[in-house]
Parts: sequence; structure tokens; C-alpha cells
Amino acid sequence: MHRSIIVAGAIALVTAAAPTATAQAAPSPSAKPFAEGAAGVGDPFFPFAGNGGYDVGHYDLALKYDYSTQVLDGTATLQARALQKLRRFNVDLRGFDVTSVRVNGKASTFARTGEQELEITPRTPLITGQAFTVRVSYKGVPQTVIDPDGSSEGWVKTTDGAFVVGEPQGSPGWFPANDDPNDKATFDIAVAVPAGKTALANGVLLSSATDGGWTTWRWRQAQPMSAYLATATNGDFPSLVTGALPDGTLIYNAIAPGLNGDGLARQKEIHALFSELFGPYPFGATGAIIDDGGVDYALETATKANYDGSPSEQTVVHEISHEWFGNAVTLEQWPDIWLHEGFARWSQWIFTEKTDGPTAAAAFRKAYNARPAESDFWTLPPADLGEPANLFAAQAYVRGGMTLQALRETIGEVPFFRLLRTWYAENRYANASTADFVATAERVSGQ
Ligand code: TRP
Ligand code: ZN
Repeated sequence: MHRSIIVAGAIALVTAAAPTATAQAAPSPSAKPFAEGAAGVGDPFFPFAGNGGYDVGHYDLALKYDYSTQVLDGTATLQARALQKLRRFNVDLRGFDVTSVRVNGKASTFARTGEQELEITPRTPLITGQAFTVRVSYKGVPQTVIDPDGSSEGWVKTTDGAFVVGEPQGSPGWFPANDDPNDKATFDIAVAVPAGKTALANGVLLSSATDGGWTTWRWRQAQPMSAYLATATNGDFPSLVTGALPDGTLIYNAIAPGLNGDGLARQKEIHALFSELFGPYPFGATGAIIDDGGVDYALETATKANYDGSPSEQTVVHEISHEWFGNAVTLEQWPDIWLHEGFARWSQWIFTEKTDGPTAAAAFRKAYNARPAESDFWTLPPADLGEPANLFAAQAYVRGGMTLQALRETIGEVPFFRLLRTWYAENRYANASTADFVATAERVSGQ
């Protein structure tokens, strides 16, 4: 699903002096009889992520992971809609041998280009508004994706399976995707692993069945999410503990041997507080995947964050808050990451404040006093991080959280909490920008 299509990206920003598409006499792509979809949506930080010209509504992933060879054998079926006439379109995929591509059931030609492109030419061009199905079969040993900041993501091999995390660009490392945060879709994820192993994924567990030495775990994410929030972490998880929140939302906590879920003790209380402060929990399931991931960070994969090692309660509070801010209300462009990380950091502060710890105001002052005036902490504004290597910099988290606390102290308690509820209510399952947040803050506060 698309709420908005971003047309102006890095290219437009760096070639401001050149004539724009509208100033030129050349027809726009959609005015051509049948255009080729763009290889990326032009995100300023990740210009090749996502694809132009269509919108995915649902992904059906059927994966088999052979632990002895590390070969991932997948078939992905994407139900999509053409947003323009398409002679050809792209899907993001990193690595793998693609063995077959079918569009509406018909074998289609395809080519691999760049680092993450699968270019598909359907036998019959697609017309604007046409619903179509793409089925891609692929096979290979997944390659870890290395980010501009040097961190690892994608399908990350572990000693007993894989730790599967995709922010910001790892998902095409394990399935063909429209890896644009603006294209939200529902997911069915089925993962076959050697019998005795567990495969987790987003949403609720539909079934797990063993046949011929393989156990297939079927999960369903019924609310729309961005592709980067998908997971399929698998391995030894002797305890998959299930429970429920008071409203019936199912809880799945999977903990790898040798690790503990002590940080999850107040999981229900955390959900209760954020539901009260921000609005109803957005998804049909919640939980945690605690594993030896080897990546050195936790990720808010929708409905079940992946934790690398036994998490602290603060980390759990942080990741759960992302279900509202990040997973339900999602950025339009990656440079606006403070809309996720600043909100999550401030959520940690408000949880502490509401549970008889130091106030968020005290946390703000502590963060302020900890950085001398000459620190580069003060030279990078949270909504102007400059480059993708700074995506997860302290400025996004701490200055982002400080921004919200300063706003709270400026506009006052009632308008501020009304703003958070409005922001969530108006943008859940959708995407928004810093400019949208500023406009909402002005509207709600009247200031
Ligand atoms: N979004 C994650 C969180 O704060 C953090 C994260 C994702 C990250 N990828 C990363 C941190 C890479 C450092 C490096 O919950
Ligand atoms: Zn975070």
C-alpha cells in the first residue's frame, strides 16, 4: 500500500540548477505508452531502495533453509497493482540465483542489474491500475548486507540458524521486495527448517507441522508493514512462550539457550502504558526474539523485536515503543529516522517517569549536561543527519528525544499528549515526514 509516492529525492536535491522534469518538453514517464519502472524511489540516503511504478499489497513467502549448506530456497509471491503503464519493472533482491519469474502465471524474462535489482519484463505490459501477481523462485546462500555505518543486517547466519533483520536495507537480502518504507503490505511467511528448530516471523502463528525431517512454521502479519520490518529468525528456541495482553493480542517470546527474558518482565505494563498514552496497539501480536545474533543491536521487527543477547528492560521499552512510532507510523524518507529513534528514546524516558523513576525533564537535563558545548552532538540536528552512516547516531536518538521533551515543556502537558495521540491516530499504517510533524504540532498546540 502506498500513501504517498516520493518523486523528489537525492537526484532532485543535488541537481537543483538543472531544468526540472516539468520544465522540460519531454513527456513524463507515465505519458509514454509503456514505461520502465524506476530502479529506486530516490530516498536521499538509499536511492536504489524501492521501485517505481507499482504498489505491493501482500507478500507470500515460502522459504526453506538448509542448515547444512546454508542454502535458502525461496518462492515469493507478490500481489501488486500497477501505478502506471509498465513494460518493465524492478524488484529489490540482493544475491541469489533466480530460477523463475512469473507474472500473472506466465514465465517472464528477467535480468539482474546493480547491487539489488531484479528487472522483470512481463510478457504483456501492465496497464495503469492493473492488479498483478509476481512469483519469484530463488536459491542461494544469503549474503550479509553491510550498511554505511559498518553494521550487518539481512539474513545473518548464527551458530544455530539465522538472525534476520532488515533495517534499513537488509530485506532484499532474503526476499524480493519493494524495499520502500512507503509501500506497506500484509505478509504470510512460511519457513521450513530442520525438524526440532524454530522459525519465527511477524504476526500470529498459524501452524507448525513436521514432515520428512522439516518443520514448516507459518506466520501471518495481517496489518500492513514496511518490508524492512519483516523477520524470519530461526534456530534453537526451546522456549516459545505464548500469552496474551488483556485485549487478547497474542504474545510470543522466543528465547535462545543460555539467554534470558528477564528484561521482558514488565512487557504487559509497557504495552498498557503506551496504549494509554499513544493509542491502541497497532498489530495483532507482540513479543520478543532473544538470540545470539552477532549484530550488536536490537531491531524493532514488527510484532516481535529481535534482541541480540538478553535485553535490558530499557531496550525492551525502546523496541516496544517502536510498534507505535516506527512500525505503525513510519518515516517517508530515511533522513527522518528521528521520528522513530527520538520517539523511542523519549518513550523510554516517559516510561521511567510514569513508573516512579526520574522524570523525562531530568533525563533531558542529564543528556544536555553530558555534552560539552563543543561536542559534535550539537552540530548535527536530528532531522539533518547529513549522511546514511549517521542513521543511528546519538543525534537521532538523544537529540530526537530531547526535541520531544523540549516541545512538551514548551506547549504544555495537555497539548503535547494530545499531539502524540493525534500523530499516531492520523498516521498509523502510513508514512509521515518531519514537516508533517511540525504541521501537526502547530495545529494541535495552536502555537
Ligand atoms: N533501529 C534499531 C533500534 O534502535 C537500531 C538499529 C538498526 C541499529 N540497525 C542498526 C543500530 C545498525 C546500530 C546499527 O531499535
Ligand atoms: Zn530504536
